[in-house]
Amino acid sequence: MSDNPQAALLQIPSDLVSVSDYPRYARQHIPHAIYEYIAGGGADELTLRRNRQALDQIQLLPRMLNDCTQGTTATTFMGEKFRHPILLAPVAFHTLVHPQGEIATAQAASALETGMVVSTLSSYSLEEIAAQLTSPKWFQLYFQQSLTFTRDLVKRAEAAGYSKLIVTIDASLHGIRNRAQRAGFSLPKEVEPVNLRYRPPLPHKTLTPEQSIVFQGMMTEAPTWKEIAWLQQQTDLPIILKGILHPEDALKAKEMGIAGVIVSNHGGRTLDSIPAAIELLPAIRKAVGPDYPLILDGAIERGTDVYKALALGANLVMVGRPQLYSLAVAGATGVAHMLRILREELEVTMAMMGTDTLDKITRQGLYET
Ligand code: FNR
Ligand code: LAC
Repeated sequence: MSDNPQAALLQIPSDLVSVSDYPRYARQHIPHAIYEYIAGGGADELTLRRNRQALDQIQLLPRMLNDCTQGTTATTFMGEKFRHPILLAPVAFHTLVHPQGEIATAQAASALETGMVVSTLSSYSLEEIAAQLTSPKWFQLYFQQSLTFTRDLVKRAEAAGYSKLIVTIDASLHGIRNRAQRAGFSLPKEVEPVNLRYRPPLPHKTLTPEQSIVFQGMMTEAPTWKEIAWLQQQTDLPIILKGILHPEDALKAKEMGIAGVIVSNHGGRTLDSIPAAIELLPAIRKAVGPDYPLILDGAIERGTDVYKALALGANLVMVGRPQLYSLAVAGATGVAHMLRILREELEVTMAMMGTDTLDKITRQGLYET
């Protein structure tokens, strides 16, 4: 762990062979406080750990002697073709770990034909990143206090060619980020949410002693179902809600015409003590029916993890932290390498499970006692 981080490597070290090898290397390339912000979760990190543990506890039960010579990881999701069901989750501020930031990440995504979800809080502009992407590109929206400015962001995303709007609804409050606090994390001054540069200044608000900085302060900026309905009127882009955890919320989203949902606890970074996203997935799949688009994220770092998520009802999965670790270690080459590992591991898993296409991945492939 370092306060003299090394520059990114030009070559991938030969003992860096799995996605989970990356954090160990990344520590040498990322300043300590930034590493803690990225790796950390909310409060006691119960949910952060549980995301990993719950995936580890699921077991697979392979079928033998099936012909897999026509196998493919390709899929179609809401009208778009994907080479594999793995996407880059929206992750803020890639220049925290590499000067080329999201530009390098987007180049790797394009090379590996991987969809990328670009964060509202990107450190290059959403237009600059879009120009690098030949694979599916989606924009992640954080509602801003000004609805006019929020709509401007959506219009910019439309104009830049983003095909879907991912609205993150679980992080209006940062949550209790004790690990980042202990390390003294703050955003370095050269890293900036450039998409928000011309955001109107927040009106000055004084709270009375009886008022709460949470409820009467921060929560006045948080969207509610009403703002989601408003957003549906502003855009023709399909809207996907990120951060849905309760089956009834998923059903509500479906009933109001939301195109899909992402089952996610923000990588254990918001409310602590939530179950793992993978544990919540089956009930949500059951609530919304077999055809409603569902995405899962949280601790996906093995081909077998992707397989388990698909078996429990996800159509696609997203990876978060591994993007920044691999970017820090070896720039675009690192991100491409990380994605290639995941795709190849998924292929190996499918072949060994005797399922040559994604639609054959079902719960029957799990060992359930
Ligand atoms: C995130 N995540 C996130 N989500 C989002 O909707 N907008 C954002 O700007 C960010 N920023 C962000 C920064 C960092 C450093 C991390 C680690 C995560 C959450 C992200 O999209 C995803 O839900 C989790 O990262 C998934 O968990 P894993 O793969 O990191 O375990
Ligand atoms: C985070 C915010 C940026 O998880 O979503 O740190």
